[in-house]
Amino acid sequence: MKVMVTGGAGYIGSVVTEELLRGGDEVVVYDSLYKGHREAVVEGASFVKGDLLDTELLRGTLIQHKVEAVVHMAADSLVGESVKAPAKYYRNNVLGGLSLLDAMREAEVKYLVFSSTAAVYGEPAKQPIEESDPTQPTNPYGETKLAFERALRWYDGAYGLRFVSLRYFNAAGATERCGERHSPETHLIPLVLQAAVGQLPEVTVFGDDYPTPDGTCVRDYIHVVDLAQAHVRALHALAEGHESAIYNLGCGGEGYSVKQVIDCARRVTGRDIPVRKGPRRPGDPAVLIASSARIMRELGWSPTHQKLDAIVESAWRFMQNKR
Ligand code: UFG
Repeated sequence: MKVMVTGGAGYIGSVVTEELLRGGDEVVVYDSLYKGHREAVVEGASFVKGDLLDTELLRGTLIQHKVEAVVHMAADSLVGESVKAPAKYYRNNVLGGLSLLDAMREAEVKYLVFSSTAAVYGEPAKQPIEESDPTQPTNPYGETKLAFERALRWYDGAYGLRFVSLRYFNAAGATERCGERHSPETHLIPLVLQAAVGQLPEVTVFGDDYPTPDGTCVRDYIHVVDLAQAHVRALHALAEGHESAIYNLGCGGEGYSVKQVIDCARRVTGRDIPVRKGPRRPGDPAVLIASSARIMRELGWSPTHQKLDAIVESAWRFMQNKR
């Protein structure tokens, strides 16, 4: 298939591009490079520098490259920032998304895979979280992702747009070439590895009085390659006639606490990692674990790197190569 990946110069987008190319699909990356990196665009993919709000450029790109399907990953994605600057999130995540849908309608592109998030659930009603559980975002990031996801259902009914929305839990890990390079970095695993090499003096544990076994927050970490493979499956399922769907994407199980992640990174790196206790970070749910039973059942997807050690090892190798 000919696929356009918005946000393909970002962390997850670059790995999705790698997986699509590996499977024989053709890829055009569309990215503003506002957060992404030109050198993260995988060799073999075409590249167009553009903004999501530029509907004309999007439409021209879709037509020129004869695009058949879109993977839409370009978005602002920092929870804390979204609370301080909701206008930016509504503009880029909602208006930008709708601009893409307009361009797709004009260019008659019918298939879309969307990067959604566990943040649509807010404080979850139960664990593991299922797709049918209530969606009550507690920040504009989750709210804007949910707003776009809900629009997709109506566009399907009215315009025949077929979509798969993937609600990611905690994406982590790396491939040989592609890994996390956020600026500023806010995610736990890269921060812990930065502390291991002395780029950060210490890791701050955000709260150790949660109702969890060791008092720190528990998350469902999923290897970015497993995540990317789910996109490829979703795209091909749509092309084969699969109806629109929403899926959680995580590894399930018990998840890992912040303390377990730090201990794992100590094992993997063999380095000391200084830690400091800090207050809770506003808006952090105690536990977020996915039930991914629906995507396993319907698309036959399952994660192949479920152990945290394998995920952290891959992120560590990526960091060592970059230094
Ligand atoms: N944490 C720390 N110290 C740090 C950084 C993080 O203790 O310096 C903790 C957080 O409090 C949280 C856990 O480590 O409990 C994981 O934090 P991340 O920031 O790595 O990831 P989040 O779970 O906050 O966020 C992820 C995605 C978001 C998405 C969210 C869903 O990165 O995009 O899951 O709720 F919105």
